[in-house]
Parts: sequence; structure tokens; C-alpha cells
Amino acid sequence: MDDVFIDAFFYGNDDEANKRFRQRLLEEQAPQEEEEEREIAIVEVDFFVPENNAFGNSFRNYQDSLRRIAVEELYRTNHAFQTYEFAMAKKEEYGRLEKGVMSIWECCELLNEYVDESDPDLDEPQIEHLLQTAEAIRRDYPDQDWLHLTALIHDLGKVLLHPAFGGEPKWCVVGDTFPLGCAFSEAIVHHKLFVANPDGRNPEYNTKLGIYIENCGLENVAMSWGHDEYLYLVAKGNNTTLPPAALFIIRFHSFYALHQGGAYTYLMNNEDKEMLKWLHVFKKYDLHSKSKERINEDEVKPYNLSLIEKVRSTFIEL
Ligand SMILES: [Fe+2]
Ligand SMILES: [Fe+2]
Repeated sequence: MDDVFIDAFFYGNDDEANKRFRQRLLEEQAPQEEEEEREIAIVEVDFFVPENNAFGNSFRNYQDSLRRIAVEELYRTNHAFQTYEFAMAKKEEYGRLEKGVMSIWECCELLNEYVDESDPDLDEPQIEHLLQTAEAIRRDYPDQDWLHLTALIHDLGKVLLHPAFGGEPKWCVVGDTFPLGCAFSEAIVHHKLFVANPDGRNPEYNTKLGIYIENCGLENVAMSWGHDEYLYLVAKGNNTTLPPAALFIIRFHSFYALHQGGAYTYLMNNEDKEMLKWLHVFKKYDLHSKSKERINEDEVKPYNLSLIEKVRSTFIEL
């Protein structure tokens, strides 16, 4: 970890010093005059969703996983406490983006310390997962640079686990996400554990549509709080130039009830249906982590830094 990250948190609770530091970083990365236009956008090609990813794997094996019991415990807490009000409060708190300023690459490195216990297949540090996902997508979709970058950053919201970001417990950072404000679908993993969730007894929230109208669009749906939602807020708050499909992947990649279970389609609008196909592609790579093929961080770093340049987000406010 280098000096910038250390500085970002060095000022601790000194608000004035923090403000000055953030201002300096943001000014440093502001585009100087009219730069030559750099774009990161979807390239029109014949669309395909692979059976398996570039490493030949497709996973999500809860049955044989040694982590099965730990995973169930995580969902026991998650399903009891993820209520509409809880998620709204977290969104309000973290949406202010007052936790720090750091570069995207530093943020990737920060995740080195964490392994995602909710993932039955994954026992690599998070940065390895990010690089493997990005490299595997890059092999199969060489022209879609936006997708490579999306893969690189998709789990950065897991910094919520870090003490500097509140040291949030795993049950509200990792694991599957789902809509709040309407009935919990049986397609959600460990659905029975929702019996402990007060929203399930609230007549305002426990019908099929709940507080929503049919085909209202997923953008208008409140999701359970976790790393997906947090990074989505960060990307929006930093005015990312990533295409809408990238934001869709970032926000819904843990929404398995939708992209694997086929539930909640009645909340989708036509735009969501269009973007769902990219999420189907992405999940093939997000789940490849049993691969023991290690990525050489130094080798892939220059390419990834060049992508980060393209979205003008060397430093981000979190
Ligand atoms: Fe994730
Ligand atoms: Fe992931």
C-alpha cells in the first residue's frame, strides 16, 4: 500500500485536514482543458454467453463446500436483519462518500486481506479474484475494455469490511442480494431463514409487488445492503463514464435470484432486460475462482491502469 492510501486515513477525524486532502487529490485528477476524447464503451460484436469461462470452470457448489455451515450462518443473520429501513439507512450513510479518497488500484490492493466467506468456491484473496475475473473476460472478449474494467472493480465495495470503512460485518457486505419492500422470493438462497425478518410480516412489504409497480425498472428497486450497492453508489457519486451495462453488473452481480433464479422479472423494464444479457456473461467469470491459475499482478497492472485512466477515475471518493 503506498503513501496516498496512508495519507487518506492519516488525518483520522480531523475533518478540515481531510477536506483539504480530498480537494487536492480531486484537483490533481481533474481533466486539464479539453483532452483528447477517450472512450470506454460497448463494442458491437456478435453476442454470446459462454458455457464455461476461459479457465473452463463454472461453479457455485454449496453442497460439497466445506464452508456450507459458515455460509448458512451468514445467511441466518443476513436474512433476519436486512430490512428495507436498514438498507435505506446504510445507503444514506455511505452515499455521502465521506470515508476516504484513494486510487482504484490501491483499493484493489486493500482487498488483499479478505477472503469472501459467502462464496462456497472461493478461497483466494480478493485481489486474486479480481485479477482472475478481469483476465478471463479479457481473453474471451478482447474488445470490450469496459467489461475488463468492470470485472477488475466489481468487488471493490468489499472495502466495507475494512475498519477504515466502518468494519461492517460480513452478513451485510457479502452474499446474495435481493429486493426489499416486496415479498422475498423463494429463489433466494436459504429463503426459509427470512422467517426472522420483520419485513416478511409487514403488509406493506410482503406482497409480490409491495411498494413497487409492475415493470418499474430495477433502478427504482431498493436492494439489500452489501458491496454491490456500495460500489454502485461510489461509481455514480464519482460520475463514472462506464456504460450503463457496467453499472448494472456492479449493482446486481450478487442478485442471484434474478440472474440465476429468474425471479423478480416483473420489476424489470425493457432496458433491464437488455442489460441482463451482459450480467449473464459476467457471472460465468465471477464464478471461476476455483482456478488455481495465478495471475502475475505486475504483468497485468499496466493494462489495468490504462483502463482506469480511460474512465478518469484514478482517484475515487468512497
Ligand atoms: Fe461480488
Ligand atoms: Fe466477485
